[in-house]
Amino acid sequence: ELAEKATFKETVYLMINGRLPNRDELTRFSILLNDHSLVHEDMRSFYESFPRISHPMGILSSMVNALRSFYPELQNLEEEINMTVTRLLSKIRTMAAMSYKISRGHKVVYPRPDLAYCANFLNMMFHSPVRPYEIDEDAVNALRVFWILHADHEQNCSTSAVRLDGSARVNLYAAISAGIAALWGPLHGGANQAVIEMLSDIAEKKNMAHAIERAKDKEDPFRLMGFGHRVYKTYDPRAKIMKKMCDSLLNKLNISDPLLDIAKELEVVARKDDYFVEHNLYPNVDFYSGIVLRAIGIPTSMFTVMFAIGRLPGWIAQWKESLDDPNWKLGRPRQIYTGPPQTQFVPIDKR
Ligand code: ACO
Repeated sequence: ELAEKATFKETVYLMINGRLPNRDELTRFSILLNDHSLVHEDMRSFYESFPRISHPMGILSSMVNALRSFYPELQNLEEEINMTVTRLLSKIRTMAAMSYKISRGHKVVYPRPDLAYCANFLNMMFHSPVRPYEIDEDAVNALRVFWILHADHEQNCSTSAVRLDGSARVNLYAAISAGIAALWGPLHGGANQAVIEMLSDIAEKKNMAHAIERAKDKEDPFRLMGFGHRVYKTYDPRAKIMKKMCDSLLNKLNISDPLLDIAKELEVVARKDDYFVEHNLYPNVDFYSGIVLRAIGIPTSMFTVMFAIGRLPGWIAQWKESLDDPNWKLGRPRQIYTGPPQTQFVPIDKR
């Protein structure tokens, strides 16, 4: 319902406050997000010092962690939490777009007060002094749906990382930075980039059967990216919405992407294969999302960053839930020792 009816900003408010905002609350929230959307100018030099080939997820994780140095802790706890949450939600878009612009050697585009959350991000990504960006409502809508579908998803790897880090009472910037680092992995959020790389590889080699065989081979670490999920042993409901949106977006933008045809065919072939049927492997949210992002012009290296922006409200909401729990304990998974019994230290020349 949210993907169909809500704005991303309303969804963010819902995640953080537990209910949808009324008109006044939404206006106040928009003003706050606008007021905090700039990034400290001194942070620019960091961006410029990363090697051009750096992955944007590494940059984002580092820069989010660095925010604490630029915005020191406030004395009043409630004010500190509200300010940190607002800064993160607002600045993450600016920071993400900045890393893209700087990586291309382009002029950074500042956020605009007259643009809503999604449109503002697209403008920061694609506006240039020589080619003004025209807001495309279909692209804005696709991004809205993409971000809403990623907003939260219980105790996945990155959310657990945020909770575990947060349990040590680190500041929220550091906990979110840990979440971004976890999301980067190709078995988690990094899968959206890996799917496009896999589909491009299949297109180039014109060999889908080979990919299927490799995915089934236990000796080969290769897996069909965008397939399978720890929780869903059936079709990921987010993937259904994403696939539908992908079709309608490409139609509206009049784009024909050969990777979409390959993805659809791969889904059909895999779902007819005994291995995928027996293992209950279906497309997950990442399978079609990359094609949506490509259609709106997002470069592949930024895909997981897009996921991170969408997931941020969920991470914050989960962290807040822990914070509100009077019994929130330092996280410490138990370890069961199965190694050899007591051993003696052997001096180096006797080993
Ligand atoms: N391709 C081939 N085989 C697979 C795949 C796949 N994509 N996914 C699972 N399997 C197989 C495993 O080899 C294993 O087989 P076995 O029981 O015969 O040894 C069985 O299915 C179960 O796999 P597990 O890894 O134990 O299942 P788990 O629940 O841990 O897997 C995961 C979840 C990591 C997402 C997995 O399906 C995978 O690696 N998928 C590809 C990466 C991907 O798309 N990740 C995004 C997930 S969604 C998200 O995080 C946003």
